[in-house]
Amino acid sequence: MLRRWCHIYIVFLFVACLGSIECQDDMKDGYGYSWLMLVDEALNRHLLNFSVLPSHGIRYGKPVFYLYTRNNREDPEVLFIPNDEEYLKSIYFNGSNDIRVVTHGWMSDYQVGWLQSIKDTLLQHYDLNVITIDWAYLAKNPIYPWSALITRFVGKQTAKLLDACTNTYGVGRHRMHLIGHSLGAQVMGYAGMFLNSEVHRITGLDPARPLFELPLLPTEFRLDESDAHFVDIIHTCAGLFGYEDSYGHADFYPNEGTTDQPGCPPKRELLDSCSHGRAAIYFAESIGYPHGRGFKAYPCDIWENFKMGLCRKNKTIMGYLASPDSRGDYYLRTNSAPPYAIEDVNYI
Ligand SMILES: *[C@@H]1O[C@H](CO)[C@@H](O)[C@H](O)[C@H]1NC(C)=O
Ligand SMILES: *[C@@H]1O[C@H](CO)[C@@H](O)[C@H](O)[C@H]1NC(C)=O
Ligand SMILES: *[C@@H]1O[C@H](CO)[C@@H](O)[C@H](O)[C@H]1NC(C)=O
Repeated sequence: MLRRWCHIYIVFLFVACLGSIECQDDMKDGYGYSWLMLVDEALNRHLLNFSVLPSHGIRYGKPVFYLYTRNNREDPEVLFIPNDEEYLKSIYFNGSNDIRVVTHGWMSDYQVGWLQSIKDTLLQHYDLNVITIDWAYLAKNPIYPWSALITRFVGKQTAKLLDACTNTYGVGRHRMHLIGHSLGAQVMGYAGMFLNSEVHRITGLDPARPLFELPLLPTEFRLDESDAHFVDIIHTCAGLFGYEDSYGHADFYPNEGTTDQPGCPPKRELLDSCSHGRAAIYFAESIGYPHGRGFKAYPCDIWENFKMGLCRKNKTIMGYLASPDSRGDYYLRTNSAPPYAIEDVNYI
C-alpha cells in the first residue's frame, strides 16, 4: 500500500516539475491560474489553457455541461459559450430559477446513478436549472495525480460557465449551490475560488483526500470553507479516500464518517468505493425529505461521546436541507439500506 502511494507521489511531483521547469522561459506566469502542463500515460505533454471557453459538443479533454430543467428532465441540453463571448446560448435555461451544479469524481461520469438521482429528485421537488458537469474524459485517467491536478482546470471552466449564466440571465452567485463527489468536490472548490468565493453554497461529498489533504495543500489548492458562503462536507470514507479533518463550516460524520459504512462489504484495502460513495447516496436521499426531516445530526466533539448518548442537543439536518447557519462537527447514524435516514429521534 505504501509503495503504491509513493508511486503516485513520484508521478505527481514529476508532473508538477515538468510543468514548472520545461516551460519556465516563455510561460511561467500564470501557472495554475491561467494554464497547466500535464503529462499523459504515454508521457506526451498537454498544455491546458484556461482561457479556452467551454465549447459546443463533446471534445476530448474538455468538460461538458448539461442543463436539465422541468422542461427537459430526460433530454439534457449541452450548454456552451460562443467563442470569445461571455454569454450563454441556451433554450431551456430559466433565469427566474436558481442554479444547482453537480459533478462526479475520479473514474466516473455524469451518468452514474447517484448523480442522476440527485438531478431527478431536485427537479421533482424544485423548479431549478440543474447543470451536471461531465469531465469523464479527464476523470477516467488511471493516473490519479493527473485527474487530481486537472480539477483546477475543470473548476475554472465551471466558473466561466457560471459567470456566463450571471451575464446572460442575471442569476447572482447567491443563487448557486455546487455539489461534487470526491475529486468533483475539489472541482467545486476551485470553481468557488475562481468566482471569488461568492457562491452561496458548496457541498463536498466525501472530498478527495490524496494529494489534497495528504499531503496537506494550502487552502487555495483544495476545498475548504473559504470557497463559498456556506461549505458543508459529508464524510463517509474519512482518512482513506475522503477528507479526514473538518474543513467546512459544517462537517457531517455519519457512522463516524469512516469505513465501513453500514451495508457496505467489509473493507477491502484500497478498494472501498462503497463507503466513499455513500456520501453521495445519503445526499441524494436527503433531497426528497420535507424541511426538518431526514438525516438528523447532532453537534458533538467526538464520536465516542455521541455513541454514549452525550450529544442529544441542538439537532440539525444533514444534506440538501442543512441550515446554512450550521457550524462545527455533527454526528449521526444511518440505516444500512434505503431509506438510510433514521427518522426516530430516540435512535441512539
Ligand atoms: C491561452 O490562450 C490565450 C487566448 O487564446 C492566449 O492569449 C494565451 O497566450 C494562451 N496561454 C498559453 C500559456 O498558451
Ligand atoms: C421560468 O420559471 C418561472 C418560475 O419558476 C415559471 O413561472 C416560468 O413559467 C418559467 N418559464 C418557462 C419558459 O418555463
Ligand atoms: C446548543 O445551543 C446552545 C445555544 O446556542 C448553546 O449554548 C449550547 O452550547 C449548544 N449545545 C451543544 C451541545 O452544542
